Amino acid sequence: MTDAPAAPVFRMEDLVALCRRRGFVFQSSEIYGGINGFWDYGPLGTALKRNLKDAWWRDMVACPPDGPDGRPLSIVGLDSTIIANPKVWEASGHVGGFNDPMVDCRESKARYRADHLMVLVGADDDGSRRMVGFLEGDDAGREKAGKSLAKYEKREFDPANYAIRPFTQLAATDLSRVLGPDAKEPGSLTEPRMFNLMFESHAGAIRDEDSKVYLRPETAQGIFVNFQNVLDSTRVRVPFGIAQIGKAFRNEVTPRNFTFRSREFEQMEIEFFIRPDEAETWYPFWRDLRHAWWRSIGLTGENLVLREHDRDELAHYAKEGAGTCDIEYRFPFTAPGFGELEGVAHRSDFDLKRHAEFTGKGEKSRYFDQERNERYFPHVIEPSAGADRGTLAVLCEAYTPDDSRPSGVVMKFHPRLAPVKAGIFPLVNKDGMPEVAEKLHRELRVKYACEFDPKQSIGKRYARMDEAGAPYCFTIDSDTLADQTVTVRERDTLSQERISIDRVATYLAERIDG
Ligand code: GAP
Repeated sequence: MTDAPAAPVFRMEDLVALCRRRGFVFQSSEIYGGINGFWDYGPLGTALKRNLKDAWWRDMVACPPDGPDGRPLSIVGLDSTIIANPKVWEASGHVGGFNDPMVDCRESKARYRADHLMVLVGADDDGSRRMVGFLEGDDAGREKAGKSLAKYEKREFDPANYAIRPFTQLAATDLSRVLGPDAKEPGSLTEPRMFNLMFESHAGAIRDEDSKVYLRPETAQGIFVNFQNVLDSTRVRVPFGIAQIGKAFRNEVTPRNFTFRSREFEQMEIEFFIRPDEAETWYPFWRDLRHAWWRSIGLTGENLVLREHDRDELAHYAKEGAGTCDIEYRFPFTAPGFGELEGVAHRSDFDLKRHAEFTGKGEKSRYFDQERNERYFPHVIEPSAGADRGTLAVLCEAYTPDDSRPSGVVMKFHPRLAPVKAGIFPLVNKDGMPEVAEKLHRELRVKYACEFDPKQSIGKRYARMDEAGAPYCFTIDSDTLADQTVTVRERDTLSQERISIDRVATYLAERIDG
């Protein structure tokens, strides 16, 4: 047995509804029916995501810990463009190799990622076996597939009678027998075709091949192509890192699971440049540091895991045998499985060498290590995290159904990430209380995001703050006017105590700034 919390016990639809109702996340261009794979953040969501990115920047770039060599980590920031010279993406391998296998349904016109498609295989092995497709992890889809197959086979659906196979393992001759997830007749699914995930556009007035540009699918390449600029303009020397937070775009075949797989999202990436023979020191350092960081912002317990990659999962740039791992979170839609939050990869010297090759600068662009008096292409350890997936994990972790509260739910954000740090209420909107509450609000808002709320019953105001995840509420009542004390209500324990109004700022500082 363990004390750690088990998988989240709520339905994803409930969290999505709360996100919309309280202004965490909206569907993009909702008034026009939305657009698949794009999401907007409302006022609370924007503050939450900003706090996550700020925490990352502060802990990794502005005030990082010491490295494994006992010296302060040296990490500098960068803000490169979303559109770059298209040669960047030829060199990086994205033009040739950033593909997903795609399957089309000729009947329903739906499109699927072949590697996300599963098929339920009928029990009769007489050559007429029918197979019904469904999407991996979609329990309802699997149930539907089972019923459809049972109907065809004219018997009860008992999962034990059926096998499940990945679509990619089927022989081409099996295709005519597969019923697509959204089709009525079998045989409508195409063979998988490779599909490049980069969004294309054109720079300039003429739309031809020469003006074609791509929206970056990762922020990393902006770092690699500026490697020499950073060296020339700063005092950093290997080992050091360049960090960037920014948008990335991927024309995902099947965007789904709320913001988890979007077509526009934000990454928080560090390319950490090291001596070629030091990966064994730096890779575990970064893996453990990043894992500990997610825990430090509240993803504790069994919902967060670190998973080393198998060999066959390595990306095209990753170095074999040197370690690549994912930091994964158990989202309600992946449970009991996990979904990737961040990858930590040893990218070797792949990118710097490719850019040296494609720019024609070649070996002479190798880095000169003055301490060792030698030239080499530095190797790279890359912790690459998703800001939207991180925000989603934080939302899932915080979402706590609680029937004893008027809101029925409380968002238990880590105080550092909470979009609103405190609610400040006059118990009643008269008798001098609003003036005292407003004065306190003015003092606190210099440093903290606080809400002054004089309207409705106190119960309703607590409920609003519970849904916004404000860790503390301060209430000014008739006693305040007499003895200069206020009631503090603590979000998670619901405990209430009275403290002096002069101590409120210190009280918050101790609990929020740590
Ligand atoms: N530079 C390495 C790189 O881009 P990746 O594993 O493809 O690696 C890194 O992406 C992180 O970006 C992922 O761990 C995930 O958090 C986030 N990410 C990737 N694709 C995403 C998508 N379609 N929607 C939301 N986040 C995504």
